[in-house]
Amino acid sequence: MVMDVFPDKAQARRHPAVDLLMQKVVQGIESYVGQAMAGVPPEVVAGLADRVVREVREFSEGQGNHLYELVKIGLGLSSEKNIDRLLERIVREAKHFTNADGGTLYIKDDARQALDFAIVQNDSLGVCMGGSGEAISWLPVPLRHENNGENHWNVSAHCALTGEPINISDVYDAEGYDFQGTRDFDASTGYRSRSMLVIPLRDHEDEVIGVLQLLNAKDRETGAVVPFPEHEVGMVMSLASQAAIALTKMRLVRGLENLLDAFVRTIGDAIDEKSPYTAGHVYRVANLTEEIALEVNRATTGRFASINFNADELAEIRMAAWLHDVGKITTPEHLMDKATKLETIFDRIELIRHRVEISRLHDAFVRLENEPCPRTEGRTAPLPPPKEEEWQEIITFLDMINLGGEGLSDENIEKVRRLAGITYAMSGVQFPLLAPDEVENLCVQKGTLTAAERKVMNHHVEMSIRMLEGLPFPKKLRNVPVYAGMHHEKLNGTGYPRGLGNGAIPLPARMLALADVLEALTAADRPYKPGKMLSEAMRILEGMVARADLDGELCDLVVESGLIVRFAQDLPARQRDDFFWRGKRYSVSDTR
Ligand SMILES: [Fe+2]
Ligand SMILES: [Fe+2]
Repeated sequence: MVMDVFPDKAQARRHPAVDLLMQKVVQGIESYVGQAMAGVPPEVVAGLADRVVREVREFSEGQGNHLYELVKIGLGLSSEKNIDRLLERIVREAKHFTNADGGTLYIKDDARQALDFAIVQNDSLGVCMGGSGEAISWLPVPLRHENNGENHWNVSAHCALTGEPINISDVYDAEGYDFQGTRDFDASTGYRSRSMLVIPLRDHEDEVIGVLQLLNAKDRETGAVVPFPEHEVGMVMSLASQAAIALTKMRLVRGLENLLDAFVRTIGDAIDEKSPYTAGHVYRVANLTEEIALEVNRATTGRFASINFNADELAEIRMAAWLHDVGKITTPEHLMDKATKLETIFDRIELIRHRVEISRLHDAFVRLENEPCPRTEGRTAPLPPPKEEEWQEIITFLDMINLGGEGLSDENIEKVRRLAGITYAMSGVQFPLLAPDEVENLCVQKGTLTAAERKVMNHHVEMSIRMLEGLPFPKKLRNVPVYAGMHHEKLNGTGYPRGLGNGAIPLPARMLALADVLEALTAADRPYKPGKMLSEAMRILEGMVARADLDGELCDLVVESGLIVRFAQDLPARQRDDFFWRGKRYSVSDTR
């Protein structure tokens, strides 16, 4: 980008406007010299004019070059994405710009009222600390003394407090500042600190956010240490300001990213908290999805070898995983937590139990009524049939059916319907033992949810899509709603909510779908089923791959890379067992 704006420095210097300016300068000087030096031999005047023109030209070209450098540095700083590299670059560019031997960048900590060492560079000593280099353990420079008075003894603190630049020819002769620390440093290294330029870093609101300290400017021709030229201070101030703005921009962006990240995790945690039975689901799915993405990046052979998710893409995938079930915010809790088929806000098996109890008592009462008693001895009446054992058998059966499971036989469905025809008497009125809604619930073939309830549960994906599509995600996160909204889609087109096929489901959505299934199969805290053994979960997964519900090659990667074994380490010990995948046996202790 810099090269587009300034394709060639020499070309910029020879711009027609520069030549025109120099022409005007020459004409002006010649006219002035001609008037002031009347009577002086023309060759002397011409010699003097040549010298002045040369010096003006050199100076203006030097200034032009500096301006060119300044703009280039500004563009470079604003395009830097990594904060450590940005900090290093600010010092490096300022050193280069002033031909200084050393540079220190301090960042102001408003809370602690101190200047933290961010970067320390010294070419002669070969020092390059902070940023991506060696960490700096030096104590921060306090901006205030213990008595709360401002610390103007330290030159950098003074600069931060006043916002004024300080240009010192020789720190050993400087008055008004304490340079004992500099002298000690020199004594321990054999260095001689001499000229120093201390510049505040002001952000877009004119607040000082740091201090740049440049040390020992060197003459570009002789290499001798010289004072920092006064006419360059303004330009270095401008450079520092660009650096401050770039730094502030990066901090603001980073701050917003962190805030968004934390907010997304809070939503994920809230969904996990909503139901004690799905606690940790979102957290585990997010972790597993990210692990799968990293395995894709590590792959060196096969379909995934050419795929490499960059940091932004990984962040996008991670966020989609954290938000994939956000629509469950609208799902009724009694459905999310439905542990038995008859559960609503309580388990209605208790109601049936009471009905059975009423019937038993009623039968007992009728029996007593018809037993001979002393006053009616001799009179006989038919006893009602004994039902005690039958009632017991009925409630045992319903208890068992109510639990839900993987499959309900036709025979048992028929039996539930038959039981629904039984009536019980209360206050002389006959009531059906099972209400139609209870029959429908008890006849659920798999799990505990009826078709209508399943529809409400599945609606969470549509809600996820609607909620996420309503959010103005930045460009680099624009696929979050896409990936999150596809976590129940299947490659064979039988998934929901859109029934998308193989070609329409991108890899990150497949990774998320796989993580969702794997977590759900092995979760130990579901209300309607215990966590499956790893071997059983993998057998079911193989079935799903065979039906093209999931991406088989992705599953292969998860198994063959050892990720599944690492995942299994977090399962309860009783679930960890050896498993088969594509006919090969894998051990959970196998951590290749
Ligand atoms: Fe879901
Ligand atoms: Fe999920």
